[in-house]
Amino acid sequence: MAILKIARMGHPVLAQKAEPVANPSAPEIRRLIADMVETMVDANGAGLAAPQVHVPLRLVVFQAPESRADEGLSEAERFDHTAPLTVLINPELELLEGETEGGWEGCLSVPGLRGFVERPAHIRYRGIDHEGAAIIRTARGFHARVVQHECDHLDGILYPQRMSDLTKLIFDSEARHFLDQTRKE
Ligand code: NI
Repeated sequence: MAILKIARMGHPVLAQKAEPVANPSAPEIRRLIADMVETMVDANGAGLAAPQVHVPLRLVVFQAPESRADEGLSEAERFDHTAPLTVLINPELELLEGETEGGWEGCLSVPGLRGFVERPAHIRYRGIDHEGAAIIRTARGFHARVVQHECDHLDGILYPQRMSDLTKLIFDSEARHFLDQTRKE
């Protein structure tokens, strides 16, 4: 396994549409997945898309741990709000409701910054996992957000392009000012 170099905003690989993975069980895809997981964990990220490691294929890894889920959820709700470490190949997203939700996002390809992004709050996604098994899940909260963020990478979209208010594109080190403001609102 290896820790891969992460492409940063401005590199053309982040702006292009990625190609479907033809053979999810190919040895080179298995190696890529192992390296992406190691790279994501090393960088302390919640997700990573193949284009971020300079491979223009439709493959993402992500996790939505309990610690990132909203507080006070019922057990049934937590099911949609969390996901174990997941490999998702050739994903398809379906938006389930019109309502959107705002949340702060960061990206390993946009280091040092974070931005407030409105996204659909409830989605369903499908794809294939690292063993070739079908995945179909519904997602809400941070889980829905991380899947949409990672799948956007496969279409050449970075989160600042999803922002409606660029005054909320800020440095990590200044996030405390916005945290205070959000609490007052
Ligand atoms: Ni990202």
